[in-house]
Amino acid sequence: MLLDKKDMPIVAMDFMNDVHAKDIEIINTLYDALLSYETVPSEEHKERLIQLYREWFEHTIEHFHGEEVLMVEKKFPPYPVHKSEHDRALALMDDVLRNFITTGDIAGLKQYITQVVPQWFVQHIQSMDTVTAMFFKSGMSPCSMH
Ligand SMILES: [Fe+2]
Ligand SMILES: [Fe+2]
Repeated sequence: MLLDKKDMPIVAMDFMNDVHAKDIEIINTLYDALLSYETVPSEEHKERLIQLYREWFEHTIEHFHGEEVLMVEKKFPPYPVHKSEHDRALALMDDVLRNFITTGDIAGLKQYITQVVPQWFVQHIQSMDTVTAMFFKSGMSPCSMH
């Protein structure tokens, strides 16, 4: 197991917590597939790894989209900042997979999944998602908080 749900920061909106918990499950499954491929680098293990990565990517698109739709609807002032963090994360996620498919660099993929992703995930929830969820719940803008 790579990520423990107990370490997941909880935000003020349950729908967001649910999506984050699901994301942790997917990342953990992906991590297992990565270890399997590392141990036995068969074509079958590689295909499963890529397949799970794509599922995680699809889930992440939905995850981000769900937050973005509500931010637009509720006119969240720092929407562009939150949205650009999402866009950057998705672009990197896509780059890493393309790189793995082209070069077969499992070390690079492992470094990304085990180090970059967990750190980004927790940090993003603690900052952007926390403030955004608070705004959804209370209607309070972080700009007007004292
Ligand atoms: Fe989120
Ligand atoms: Fe977010």
